[in-house]
Amino acid sequence: MEKNKGFKLLDIEDIKLFINGEWVSSSSNSYFTLKNPSTGETVTKVPRGGRKEAIEAIEAASEAFQNWAKLTAYERADYLLKLRDLMLENEDELATIMSIEMGKAYTEACGEVKYAASFLTWYAEEGRRIYGETIPASVSNKRLFVVKQPVGVIAAITPWNFPLAMMTRKLGPALAAGCTGIVKPASQSPLSALAFAKLVEMAGIPKGVVNIVAGATQEISDEIFENPSVKKISFTGSTEVGKTLVEKSAPLLKKLALELGGHAPFIVFEDADLEKASEGALASKFRNAGQTCVCANRIYVHENVKDKFLKILVEKVKQLKIGNSLDETIQIGPLVNEEGVRKVEEHVLDAVEKGATVLQGGRRFGDQGCFYEPTVLADVTKEMKIMTEETFGPVAPIIAFNNEDEVIKEANDTIYGLAAYLYTSDISRAVRVSESLNFGVIGLNDGVPGAAQAPFGGMNQSGYGREGGHQGIRDYLEEKYISLGI
Ligand code: SIN
Repeated sequence: MEKNKGFKLLDIEDIKLFINGEWVSSSSNSYFTLKNPSTGETVTKVPRGGRKEAIEAIEAASEAFQNWAKLTAYERADYLLKLRDLMLENEDELATIMSIEMGKAYTEACGEVKYAASFLTWYAEEGRRIYGETIPASVSNKRLFVVKQPVGVIAAITPWNFPLAMMTRKLGPALAAGCTGIVKPASQSPLSALAFAKLVEMAGIPKGVVNIVAGATQEISDEIFENPSVKKISFTGSTEVGKTLVEKSAPLLKKLALELGGHAPFIVFEDADLEKASEGALASKFRNAGQTCVCANRIYVHENVKDKFLKILVEKVKQLKIGNSLDETIQIGPLVNEEGVRKVEEHVLDAVEKGATVLQGGRRFGDQGCFYEPTVLADVTKEMKIMTEETFGPVAPIIAFNNEDEVIKEANDTIYGLAAYLYTSDISRAVRVSESLNFGVIGLNDGVPGAAQAPFGGMNQSGYGREGGHQGIRDYLEEKYISLGI
């Protein structure tokens, strides 16, 4: 595994945390081990940060906030754009690190580096457009203003499935707004965050503005929620954990943004372009080996076009090459770990026992690593686990439907509300159905709707708050009303 050696950004034999501009080990001198999900081999050991490191990081961020907040938006934008340039210059290494630690296919990981960098570009620009307001006063001797100011120290708790993009989607607006912060990366993907920290250092961003503390999730997150200096927390992860964070945020009434789980319906109407619909389904379902919160989880296809659609889709799925994530010719890498594979196995087994037909795949792949074959299941029904629980794996369940009202009802019948997709060539139906789906993101004839300039977030139990777009910077700002007597 040549690519595993000789990183410029990280000393893989001696990984350190990044606090107050320094590279440090954990005070408890304990470590956790990272394994490459393609091979099962140990990649390295990572210092297990805990409360002490979280306290130090928050103190450093509080100290750094004093000056960072005073910079002009233009000065902060220069830093962000420098960081963006460094990310792009180091795309190969960042993608390789990501691929080794959490299994994303290398070419897709390169795409993620660009996606992550695009949040820095967008928010460098957006920071320059944090406009205030003047309000007409009701008396002649007053002037009323609203100014926007950074909330202060923030915390970003980031997921393993997009280790860089979900971090810059939070840090980009935070830094542009004038906030400083602590990042707690997922334990499956701390190296991407630490390599990013190296770029923060290279960009000359003042010490303490960004701090990265990997390690004991419970301890670090307890400190984040209990420390009064942290004013806002943004979390991407499961709905289950999101609910506990809502409780934890209550005592100090911390601002919270939650990007939680999803169970996306993907609807193919009989008037859809089936070639495009199957391409969209492939992209939505098999991106990151099915490990995204916006993956198509239930593919509803009109009865009249089901057979034709399935034929095209299965043919495309057969072409997907599976293998070591660093192999530039593969599209499907491993799942993040054994637990991930077990969940997929459980869902497929349950579906088959309840009457689903396996049209493609349906089992583990190879005898090492955490691979599962890209799979298509037909004859899927509501009683199957796969219809309500997030599979987080490369399994496309197909359900036939007959009419529009029925499929909208089925699509909305979920506790989640993150993303939904529909394919149709009827413009009235496109508008009608898009408006009827209770989801925060709609892919209308589009299998990959995410973009830095667009708001991303969920309804119902998929969380609250929006990231990306001009909306994504709001939560990092306080609106202050000033009444001036003259
Ligand atoms: C996610 O699945 O959480 C993010 C997907 C995206 O930004 O496209």
